[in-house]
Amino acid sequence: MKQVLLIDTDPGVDDALALLMAYDRADVAALTIAAGNVGLGHTVANALRLTELVAAATPVHAGAAEPLVRPADDAAFVHGADGFGDAGLPSAQRQAEAEHGALALIRLTRERPGELTLVALGPLTNLALALHLDPTLPQRVARLVIMGGAVTGRGNTTVPAEFNIGFDPEAAHIVFSGWPQFELVDWEATMRHGITLERFESWLAAGDARARFYDAISRKIRGFMRERGRPGLVLADALAMAVVLDPDCVTRAEHRHVAIELDGSLTRGATVVDWEGRNGKPANARIVLELDQARFEALIAAALGAA
Ligand code: RIB
Ligand code: CA
Repeated sequence: MKQVLLIDTDPGVDDALALLMAYDRADVAALTIAAGNVGLGHTVANALRLTELVAAATPVHAGAAEPLVRPADDAAFVHGADGFGDAGLPSAQRQAEAEHGALALIRLTRERPGELTLVALGPLTNLALALHLDPTLPQRVARLVIMGGAVTGRGNTTVPAEFNIGFDPEAAHIVFSGWPQFELVDWEATMRHGITLERFESWLAAGDARARFYDAISRKIRGFMRERGRPGLVLADALAMAVVLDPDCVTRAEHRHVAIELDGSLTRGATVVDWEGRNGKPANARIVLELDQARFEALIAAALGAA
């Protein structure tokens, strides 16, 4: 029986790969869209484009256009001004739903209690809004898998902060303190599971229309990696989606309490992990530390039609 996913996302080039993986192996009940990598108008348009590519009639719900409290910088320098590598893809014919993403999260989990796996691939603004409106939300969600954080302080936007958490730390605080148990796939694990450009581009060459789409939208980010002499692609959302789709691919994980720093002048947006159990609070996160790389890569190759 296929898993049924509810995906909150800010597409985003790596989000797009995670979504292709999801459509290849699972059913997708809805996409709720966050601002993050680029503005909400672009992330919604990109989600609609992707659903048309895979011929899915998945409802797409726009969520919050801004973080809860303080403004934040996007990641257009990585993903392109349009969030899809400025590849100039045609707009989708489909329209987004009228219902706000946060309200859709509440409604869909009430309609299908215990059935849905919630996957968070962007800033947590929509999840925080939904949780604030309905604190019983976690009881109706089978699994919550979050891509975010840097569990030993090696971030990718400030020294300790990873982008999704750092973009809206107050939202992350609401989710991390209000959700009893979730799975966390962080930036540091992402960095340990890079894929060489050579191997990735061999899949793009061998794949189907999905590979041709991904070749177009990832050209900018692959060039970005080459210019910086990076050994390969680091695909955070794809790694998180691998944990969702193939839970047994996780080879090492630790349960710990994780909190979000909101005020530090140097540390705002940091994921503070109680590794030694000092604060006496129950573990709220299963921190994924390592995956079987071959199984991770097999999911990506299959999603590009190159398996
Ligand atoms: O830090 C990586 C995360 O930030 C990924 O979700 C990427 O899409 C960006 O949103
Ligand atoms: Ca993302």
